[in-house]
Amino acid sequence: MDKMQILIVDYGSQYTLVIGRTLRELGVRSVILPPKKVDAWLKNNTPKAVILSGSNWSVHNEGAPELPRSLDITGKKYFILGVCYGMQLLAYKLGGKVDRPLSHREYGPAVVTVNTKHPFFNEVKEKTEVWASHGDTVTKLPKGFTSIATSGGIASMSNKDNRILGIQFHPEVTDTKEGKKILQNFLDISGCKKDWNPLDLIHEIQKEVVDIVNKNKKEKQNVILGVSGGVDSTTLAAILAPVLKDKLICVAIDTGGLRANEITELRENTAYALSQGQSLRKKDIKNFKIIDASNEFIKNIGTTIDGEEKRAKFRSVYKKIFEEQIKKYNAGFIVQGTLATDIIESGKAGESAMIKTHHNVGLDWEVDDLHPLRNLFKYEVRELARALKLPSAVYERNPFPGPGLFLRVVGTPVSKENIELVREADKTVRDIIKKNKIEKEISQVIIALLGINSVGVKGDERVYGHSLAVRAVQTVDFMTAKGYYFSQNIMDEITSALTKHKDIVRIFFDMTPKPPATTEFE
Ligand code: XMP
Repeated sequence: MDKMQILIVDYGSQYTLVIGRTLRELGVRSVILPPKKVDAWLKNNTPKAVILSGSNWSVHNEGAPELPRSLDITGKKYFILGVCYGMQLLAYKLGGKVDRPLSHREYGPAVVTVNTKHPFFNEVKEKTEVWASHGDTVTKLPKGFTSIATSGGIASMSNKDNRILGIQFHPEVTDTKEGKKILQNFLDISGCKKDWNPLDLIHEIQKEVVDIVNKNKKEKQNVILGVSGGVDSTTLAAILAPVLKDKLICVAIDTGGLRANEITELRENTAYALSQGQSLRKKDIKNFKIIDASNEFIKNIGTTIDGEEKRAKFRSVYKKIFEEQIKKYNAGFIVQGTLATDIIESGKAGESAMIKTHHNVGLDWEVDDLHPLRNLFKYEVRELARALKLPSAVYERNPFPGPGLFLRVVGTPVSKENIELVREADKTVRDIIKKNKIEKEISQVIIALLGINSVGVKGDERVYGHSLAVRAVQTVDFMTAKGYYFSQNIMDEITSALTKHKDIVRIFFDMTPKPPATTEFE
């Protein structure tokens, strides 16, 4: 599981994630990284192939994203495929020419004539319908390259030994009729084997954890698993329960920053996960504790405004509570459902920049700290949950961050009252989303209380009250996201429902994509 066969360098195209998803549909996992994180990643990893994504940049623009410094573009270390901008960048850096001839610009459907003898176009029709979106085109190939497809201009290129390829149109987009076949050909050329099989992954995770725990011989074999009722920790509980049996102790913390009904869902989801394969009834589930620490969290964080300071305080209370449980159960391990995204964004993957301190990454425990899902993205964990036959309420569940509603009181102290206000608002909006049956269109919804008080008028009277931000996003893996556009009716419904609260006078809808924003406000 550790060895990722494909690295996708993300130059910002809106289709980069679609490349990742299509490869997964073809049975192969990939990691998607922005160019500046690639050098650090390549220090510890050797992929079989690297795909350079598209972009809205031109290679001639000042500040256009570059090839990562340590990327080997001789094709000796790994196969390389440049898609759209990726192809232009490769061609340009290898001595070819990129121009903007009017006649070669393509936006939307196009027909491409391909060299069917080239393995990249194996079993592809000679004239195939594709989807393209580019102003720039490679007008002169680098030395040693040939054109293997044409439309208005060069639509695909290959070096002599087929190790460096470029494609001007988008094989990942469904409008490219034979796009999946083309990507499968690239996987075959580069010798990538299917490595995305949920059941294999589940067994690998079980084996990895069991091996580590067994190494501890007779001493301290108990394992504390931090659970939250969310898809990651619930899935991990379901994976580990059958192999760790009584050694597994699930601990959840009521931080006081949970959403309405969260404790009930947490109880149900964890009990369900633990009963998998053990024919236990929910009430018979042992080794599952919920600790009410809401007062302790509020006491410690209650007056803090700065986002990172809040996270630091949250982390130290979180750690203290788990340390108490580790002692109590004489545990030798703490296991958490941390995902690749959390690790990358906490600056713990290679030399990646720290975006925010995730509550459960990089804590200095006295016992061994295991993150068995560390290489997986959210959509992959959902697949594991499906394979484990967990209820759809688990695998379709929207994520919710560990520090919870503490992160959703922004620019003003996180008092008990403020948390209560966001909790209520969150429930109101989620109920409206459910009623309008749009849950499946939204990856995550966030309601934040902003520290901006302003004037409003209610019942002909002046009110000086709070502002809330409503932010819904769509994303595959939370590394990037785009704002979700509610219909006008639903926006009106949300605004009207939220402003019924006597102290709320203004609602802002936040459509900012990630980047530049992050999903959460802090
Ligand atoms: P951002 O805001 O970084 O969030 O775009 C990406 C995803 O991670 C969640 N998130 C967290 N989850 N602990 C968590 O368990 C955290 O400290 C944390 N911070 C952000 C966020 O809700 C989104 O789903």
